[in-house]
Amino acid sequence: MALIHLIYVSTAFKELDTTALDQILASSVRHNTPQQVTGMLLYAGGSFMQVLEGEAAAVDETFTRIKRDPRHTDVFEIAREPVDERHFDRWSMGFKRLSAGDAATHPGYAPFFEHGFDPATIGAHPGLALEMLIDFSLNQSPGRPS
Ligand SMILES: Cc1cc2nc3c(=O)[nH]c(=O)nc-3n(C[C@H](O)[C@H](O)[C@H](O)COP(=O)(O)O)c2cc1C
Repeated sequence: MALIHLIYVSTAFKELDTTALDQILASSVRHNTPQQVTGMLLYAGGSFMQVLEGEAAAVDETFTRIKRDPRHTDVFEIAREPVDERHFDRWSMGFKRLSAGDAATHPGYAPFFEHGFDPATIGAHPGLALEMLIDFSLNQSPGRPS
């Protein structure tokens, strides 16, 4: 089965509270599980970065739905490419809200998220975007805002 991953950044329509983030995660888990789509969603400074991985048709269908979602705008695709294996197969969608504390403990990544995910900065470093998603996925609980 040919796997791809797709990484994008977007801007939240407004600052989202835990309840709003919970709703996004609940529908992600509901749709992604049967489609065998896995991934990680980061939220920082009113912006999102997400990686989706799975079969191309399933990832593309999911991304088409996500792009239409009015809860965010300026959806900017960073990468869409074949991958040999999944990096986020522990759950259908992991989640982490990044804070100033994460900027302090991850100074190498801080410029990429401390003022929100900037498409130009992240787009110039797609490898780093994936590395950051993997790093922040470690030790996270499935599908619960933190
Ligand atoms: C930042 C963000 C990430 C999302 N991630 C996913 C996802 O991984 N999978 C998914 O099915 N829906 C995701 N959604 C939700 C979809 O855009 C859409 O609202 C949902 O799939 C509709 O299904 P529902 O009406 O059954 O809740 C996301 C939405 C936002 C704003």
